[in-house]
Amino acid sequence: MNIIQVNDYEEMSQEAAKVMLNTVQEKSHPVLGLATGSTPERLYELLTKAHQEDQVPFGHVQTFNLDEYIGLSKDDEQSYHYFMNEKLMGNIDIPNNQVHIPNGLVTDLEAECVAYEKKIQQAGNIDLQLLGLGMNGHIGFNEPGTSFDARTHIVQLDASTREANARFFENEADVPTQAITMGIGTILEAKQILLIVHGEKKADILRRVVSGEVTEDIPATALQRHDNVTIITDIDL
Ligand code: GLP
Repeated sequence: MNIIQVNDYEEMSQEAAKVMLNTVQEKSHPVLGLATGSTPERLYELLTKAHQEDQVPFGHVQTFNLDEYIGLSKDDEQSYHYFMNEKLMGNIDIPNNQVHIPNGLVTDLEAECVAYEKKIQQAGNIDLQLLGLGMNGHIGFNEPGTSFDARTHIVQLDASTREANARFFENEADVPTQAITMGIGTILEAKQILLIVHGEKKADILRRVVSGEVTEDIPATALQRHDNVTIITDIDL
């Protein structure tokens, strides 16, 4: 694992933007895997800035988001569709049909998972997968106990994850109980992985991810098995 230690959230976001822009500018058909949560918010602002102020084009990029809640419409302010549109897609020149986010509203959710995997394969797999880290070590919505071989699937969210994400909702009861997420097997097939982690509260879990035992109890430890992982963090390891 290549670990880049930075001083603060701003520097983490700047360094991560450099890595992402490198892929966007070097590849003729870059495929980016994207994440939600508060960690990448500044990074998405910087990508927006690169497009709007420095004219970096995104018209040749395809994106696949890690996950989406089940049961929220695309217009729901808490959906990851809405988040991505607000923070990035609505601000750059990427065509809508090149933006992929699991659809948590379809009746046949199993078929949606299979179709999502197929789309990733048809795109030639993900060149660069951005990840945040959940407090319980989750990546995407792969909660502790998920098989490292799992592909895109439906998950029951942990009580601790619903509690952590309740800050975005009016009441904790409004946080969906299920989500669709790329599996760890899907994530590990990305050619490069970029994990960004901010803040002392994630210090213990990040240390276990980097140097602890590889175990399905801490999903992100699977990253130790990938040969091209970059971690950018302001945590002292
Ligand atoms: C959420 C998302 C993850 C994200 C994580 C951390 O539940 N599903 O993809 O990385 O939690 O979120 P944050 O960056 O807000 O700490």
